[in-house]
Amino acid sequence: AAAEKGGWSSFMAKEVSEEPDAVANTVRGRIHDGAVVIPELDGLDDLFRGIHRILVIACGTAAYAGQVGKYALEQWARVPVDVELAHEFRYRDPVLDSGTLVVSISQSGETMDTLMAVKYARERGAKTLSICNTQGATIPRESDAIVYTHAGPEVAVASTKAFVAQITALYLLALHVGRVRGVLSEGDSAQAVAELEGVADKIAWILTHEQERTTQLARWMADTRSVLFLGRHVGFPIALEGALKLKEISYIHAEGFAAGELKHGPIALIEPGQPVFVIVPSPVFSPLLHDKVVSNIQEIRARGARVIVIAEEGDAAVLPFADEVLRIPLAGPLFEPLLAVVPLHIFAMGLAEAKGLDVDQPRNLAKSVTVE
Ligand code: AGP
Repeated sequence: AAAEKGGWSSFMAKEVSEEPDAVANTVRGRIHDGAVVIPELDGLDDLFRGIHRILVIACGTAAYAGQVGKYALEQWARVPVDVELAHEFRYRDPVLDSGTLVVSISQSGETMDTLMAVKYARERGAKTLSICNTQGATIPRESDAIVYTHAGPEVAVASTKAFVAQITALYLLALHVGRVRGVLSEGDSAQAVAELEGVADKIAWILTHEQERTTQLARWMADTRSVLFLGRHVGFPIALEGALKLKEISYIHAEGFAAGELKHGPIALIEPGQPVFVIVPSPVFSPLLHDKVVSNIQEIRARGARVIVIAEEGDAAVLPFADEVLRIPLAGPLFEPLLAVVPLHIFAMGLAEAKGLDVDQPRNLAKSVTVE
């Protein structure tokens, strides 16, 4: 096993280091002359033109990738998108028809809850497309179309590189469907493609420049009993992902919230010393949301929260209110989640390691959940 880890202390450490490759390899071969071309989707143009709704089903981290993907699918492909946990979807009486495209997301391709939901959707007449990281797995075999993520095998129970690959695949799908449906201009598509092609290097920048500091911060916080995560827009699912990872491998109580929801309840949790991670939207691309989140930071800071912000390089507005600032490179609209999640993965791993826990094999969990 030591050899398989290639010198890393854990599979998770190795897999986090592979996040840039997971994105780059998922993009590779799918861009021609500045436009997205997904060979696996050849012949499906009529299907994409005929749908009036997309329903994304998945579990856990894959479902958070789906929540991020919703923003891209709605913006670029102009199709209404719902995201639902597979086990919730399966046990109600959902409205489905042949104009609904059900997109499942699964790293393993064997998650029973997701598989049962895909089968159920098919029986009800929906078209199914699977985003999967494992060639020939059961879920893609049960689907009408497949877009593979190329993150490479993921061994650690905590999903990391598969998550960024899933978001990448959803973005490619959104750009593809947007062009096919004629709702995305060539210029907007080319701009998004250029951004997508730059993401891998930006993740690599974070690993080079912020990994050590983030791990150090995790060590200082090894005795923390509870951590909150706040995000807005595409940062909201990232907050949920940051919290899940912390629960999963460091057994610390963690919760993610939509920043705008604070005043509707969660702000009551804030007491002096409470650590809160805040994912700050880009001041350049989302100035309105940026200012709203900065005022959320002021509100929790005034109540004694210990604020750790994840903010773009050059964002000085957060400095007066932050106890710690973790930097990510500037990224165009919608691309921030692919960067902001990286310090959260590093943080969860660093904290679990600081507590002396087995980061690859957390208690009570299996890598793929093959029972319902
Ligand atoms: C993530 O860290 C988890 N281990 C878990 O939530 C996982 O993402 C979920 O079980 C779905 O797995 P899948 O992608 O293989 O379907």
